[in-house]
Amino acid sequence: MADTITCVDDLQRLARRRVPKIFYDYVDSGSWTESTYRANETDLGSLRFRQRVGCNVEAIRTASTLLGHACSLPLALAPTGLAGMVHADGEILAARAAARFGVPFTLSTVSICSIEDVAEQVAQPFWFQLYMMKDRDFIVRLIERARDAGCSALVLTLDLPIQGQRHKDVRNGLSVPPKLNVRNLSTMLSRPAWCARMLGTRRRTFGNIVGHAKGVSDTFAFAEWVSRQFDRSVTWDDVRWIKRHWGGRLIVKGILDADDARLAVAAGADAIVVSNHGGRQLDGAPSSISALPAIAAAVGRQTEVLMDGGIRSGQDVLRALAWGAHGVMIGRAFLYGLGALGEAGVTRTLELIQKELESTMALCGITDVADVGRDAIVSPAHGAAPAWPEPVGRRVGESNLPVLAS
Ligand SMILES: Cc1cc2nc3c(=O)[nH]c(=O)nc-3n(C[C@H](O)[C@H](O)[C@H](O)COP(=O)(O)O)c2cc1C
Repeated sequence: MADTITCVDDLQRLARRRVPKIFYDYVDSGSWTESTYRANETDLGSLRFRQRVGCNVEAIRTASTLLGHACSLPLALAPTGLAGMVHADGEILAARAAARFGVPFTLSTVSICSIEDVAEQVAQPFWFQLYMMKDRDFIVRLIERARDAGCSALVLTLDLPIQGQRHKDVRNGLSVPPKLNVRNLSTMLSRPAWCARMLGTRRRTFGNIVGHAKGVSDTFAFAEWVSRQFDRSVTWDDVRWIKRHWGGRLIVKGILDADDARLAVAAGADAIVVSNHGGRQLDGAPSSISALPAIAAAVGRQTEVLMDGGIRSGQDVLRALAWGAHGVMIGRAFLYGLGALGEAGVTRTLELIQKELESTMALCGITDVADVGRDAIVSPAHGAAPAWPEPVGRRVGESNLPVLAS
């Protein structure tokens, strides 16, 4: 089956047929009018490559480093809540696929499989994503759990002081586990393989929270807890506080403005993720790719700049690198693979993206991903992106951080 899948769109179509509508819609949606969700993809697609010939592209190298760790591609799996509802044990399967492929996996605070579950099932260290909650004792314990599990970086997401509204989720009555009303029951029963796998796992609630946060012993108490817990009062002082408690590599996610990027660096970020949460938070915000050049120009020499939002192919990876990113994160691209074919689907997503990246590099006359620069792109069609200054004394894909043993 995986061999007849030729692109991420194929995996998306298959996932739509295999995942109950309530959870498929949760993935394939953005906030309000979804204008930022759409812009992430269309703005990326508007960047045209500079085709080069006669360059000897016999050997192509996509290997790189992220946060000092060697990886087969400059790409990490983004934190995505509820991946364990897209496919039973989803976070474990995705983490395993990422580890085998040689790229980092990021576990969300609101995952179904817990930090301990993933650490027990997957040999490679992973990154842990943190949302700032009002219950600071819970945050301290969560950080300790991530450290005890051997997580190699903490990803602090700042673009969610309140939750953006996705109309489809409201209409579908999204909850975990799903409410067993007639409509949800019929959409789930129309996906019998999904149901059978779900019945076969014990992981069906928020593994990092239920049983760990004060007063949250079941999923119903969880819903009430979450609505009270997202902390709107977060400032850069809290980021410094997190950095101190964590003590390891800190990635600040959800940056869309050059001034915020500078503040993140000043607060101790070892890397930032230029991100609008995949168009799920501030509808009407710029696409990530259009915000990237100004941010990379502001802080790209002091910190690693990752970017996510709309990456669906190896061509998109090359566009992001050319526009100033050290690496990218993918959200929906791997979730579609997961929903379609479980672990094999995530592996297929990664294989497709790597193959597409290799071919695109070859046709642009680039043999090493570290050599991708602004000149891989001819002038952008949308004109929104400011010029990315040519790197001085350092190649775009090269990190300032020392390479670590993995
Ligand atoms: C279904 C879904 C759940 C997400 N959950 C989280 C989350 O728990 N924490 C977080 O920091 N970002 C979350 N995100 C945002 C992703 O980390 C990432 O920024 C986004 O998916 C990138 O856009 P893309 O899906 O177009 O690749 C989520 C995204 C999706 C699609």
